[in-house]
Amino acid sequence: MENIITERLIIRRFDENDWMDLYEYLSDEEVVRFEPYNVYTKEQAMEEAIYRAGAKSFYAVCLKENGKLIGNLYLGKGEFDTWELGYVFNRSFQGQGYATESARALLDYAFTSLGARRIIAMCNPKNEQSWKLLERLPMRREGMLLQNIYFKTGAQGEPLWVDTYEYAILKNEWKLDIDRNK
Ligand SMILES: CC(C)(COP(=O)(O)OP(=O)(O)OC[C@H]1O[C@@H](n2cnc3c(N)ncnc32)[C@H](O)[C@@H]1OP(=O)(O)O)[C@@H](O)C(=O)NCCC(=O)NCCS
Repeated sequence: MENIITERLIIRRFDENDWMDLYEYLSDEEVVRFEPYNVYTKEQAMEEAIYRAGAKSFYAVCLKENGKLIGNLYLGKGEFDTWELGYVFNRSFQGQGYATESARALLDYAFTSLGARRIIAMCNPKNEQSWKLLERLPMRREGMLLQNIYFKTGAQGEPLWVDTYEYAILKNEWKLDIDRNK
């Protein structure tokens, strides 16, 4: 994959040296609050950077101006030419449109170069920043699943069930949006 360049960002494959920037945000309780994992230790961040350097689904999002890795996107291939989008950004770099800018570029890459027909994303309805981002892309809310999953357990080891919003966008919807904004 060639790097994807946007106005302010470079989207590239992970490198094992990315672990420090990865640790900076994966060790933040607020950032991993809705994720299916807990905060990372330095050792886990090192292993994760090595894993991601060899994984096709993870994309590092870096600032053009200084190369700093500020977050990551995930784009995993499923069945029926459907891909799933995910994203996690360093708190210091949220609220500036970087997630929207990079995710839009990745959706475009998926539809134009990877053969994606449909892209989906899921998030907890309580994760307002996440579904607001999805609606900016613009993805459509297709459903709300009640207590369909749990990532974390309570004090007695009981599942902490959570609800899920499901979002999607089809290739033709994406094209229409691009044409509308020309
Ligand atoms: C979900 C997540 C990536 C969203 O990040 P974000 O910073 O809110 O999204 P963006 O980068 O698109 O920034 C949008 C915000 O920046 C503002 N903004 C400032 N400059 C902007 C610009 N040039 N372009 C667009 N938006 C801009 C927008 O108004 C918006 O603010 P608002 O939320 O007050 O409406 C982030 O909250 C995150 O990493 N959370 C933790 C991990 C997580 O929960 N992942 C999802 C699991 S499902």
